[in-house]
Amino acid sequence: MRLEPYLEQLAAKAIADSLGEAAPALLRPADPAHGDYQINGALPLAKRLGKNPRELAAPLAEALAAAPCIEAAEVAGPGFVNLRLSPIWIARELNAIAVDRERDGVPAVDQPKKTVVDYSAPNVAKPMHVGHIRSTVIGAALCRVLRYVGHEVIADNHIGDWGTQFGKVLIGVRRFGDPEALEARPIDELERCYKLAHALSEKDPAVADEARAELAKLQQGDPENLAMWRKLVATTRAELDRIYDRLDVEFDMWRGESAYEPMLPAVVERLLAEGIAREDEGAVCVFFDDHPKLKKSKTPFIVRKRDGAFLYSTTDIATVLWRRDELGAERALYVVDKRQALHFEQLFATVERLGVAMELQHVSFGTILGANGKPLKTREGDLIRLSDLLDEAQQRAGALMQAELEVREEDLEELAPIVGIGAIKYADLSQNRNSDYRFDWDKLISFKGNASPYLQYAHARIASIFRKGEVDPDALDPNSKLELTEAAELALAKHLMRFADAVHQAAESALPHLIADHLYALARAFSVFFESCPVLRSEGTTRSSRLLLCWLTARQLRRGLGLLGIEAPERM
Ligand code: ARG
Repeated sequence: MRLEPYLEQLAAKAIADSLGEAAPALLRPADPAHGDYQINGALPLAKRLGKNPRELAAPLAEALAAAPCIEAAEVAGPGFVNLRLSPIWIARELNAIAVDRERDGVPAVDQPKKTVVDYSAPNVAKPMHVGHIRSTVIGAALCRVLRYVGHEVIADNHIGDWGTQFGKVLIGVRRFGDPEALEARPIDELERCYKLAHALSEKDPAVADEARAELAKLQQGDPENLAMWRKLVATTRAELDRIYDRLDVEFDMWRGESAYEPMLPAVVERLLAEGIAREDEGAVCVFFDDHPKLKKSKTPFIVRKRDGAFLYSTTDIATVLWRRDELGAERALYVVDKRQALHFEQLFATVERLGVAMELQHVSFGTILGANGKPLKTREGDLIRLSDLLDEAQQRAGALMQAELEVREEDLEELAPIVGIGAIKYADLSQNRNSDYRFDWDKLISFKGNASPYLQYAHARIASIFRKGEVDPDALDPNSKLELTEAAELALAKHLMRFADAVHQAAESALPHLIADHLYALARAFSVFFESCPVLRSEGTTRSSRLLLCWLTARQLRRGLGLLGIEAPERM
């Protein structure tokens, strides 16, 4: 069950019964001494009625105290009601969660939405930069979370496979391409060829003309250029697949920009015919002079250049229409760098004028910074390659485990990628995506603090309790009575109750860090519990109760990490 909506409903009813109408606001006080939750519904109501809020809060507290889930409801401060949950009620709810192995007590949404998640989307022949790493990790986690709460998700890799770069790429590959490198490392090799051709075209106008001519030939369907373009895209895709494999990332479709090419002329014609776009100095543009927010930027949305070429904006409009008409999508989430904010605002405003009623959201994110506070680069100042980053993570994770844990040699090889790559993902997902974050190897690959190795270790430690006690967790009775008498037991139990809220809130706001925050708080609560409450050395119903708490914690850690795309090994 979801705890917060349940309490909100309860409070709404209590307020309606005792005070008349008012929407309650439910808060979670930072200091648990102020209760588990806090209702401040009496405050706004008192203001409206011109009454003393503490007086209004008294009957509200009384009504709430009568509910079975509430242990105590007390008026506090200027007119808050502080709530403490009943241990008996919590124990029963946790039994229900323990029984529910399928969903761990996380209900499905009432209204599932067919949702496209547009993420990763690197560009062929341009380097896969740090922004694509974030998009890949965040997008994949969102797909898992949205599916888990019951939405129908279509993961689409909208790669940049059709751009003006191809004129230079084609001549670059023809002149400088190393066939072997093109097979083995196409992403790097294409970028190298592109750079060389670009430099040449800067110096020699004849080369620039040649690049333009090759691009035009490609766009007009010249068989030779088309065949070469296909091959370049296919080899790039093969290398991307290897990276996605290591990251355990999957897509339901790869519809890159090129797939929309045939739709583009008609899109522009329609925008012109409906008066949404107009010609301006030969280009076709959408203007936003009357748009409350966009008028300020004064930049039009150009959908066709003077030379007749279409742009990123045109493909994106066509993509929205295709997803609506061909996929029947009700919603699309674009997991893209925040530097593209204006592009998406203009896109959304344009398709709205076309009558598109889909829910469109730019799930934007900040930059990954290096130790110097500047965007992450190699020491030579180059962009970091994703595959190098993953190699280093694996190697560092292996070294740390060797130094700090007694990992068996034969397990090390299997664990290093799980711990290392998991740590890269978690470093990203544990931050609010809207902010920039500092990439720090020592913090992210660590058994201390808010890092995934710490969470994986907590999970493995619980698994080892079961091994040591020779208890099969699957054979535990999920309905055995939970004794929440020690403070640490009750605190842990309350954290366990929050899982469904964390998952749903993460899904609703597309903020995976809400799940990470929950897991970290849970692991810490577990560690306090484990230090003060012996498990295997206790007896009778206390022992079975504590084993059940251990099992619930392990399951939640595993499930939560799984939603973030991180494995939780049984042994570390
Ligand atoms: N390829 C683009 C880039 O690297 C990202 C594409 C995002 N998706 C979209 N539908 N615009 O910047």
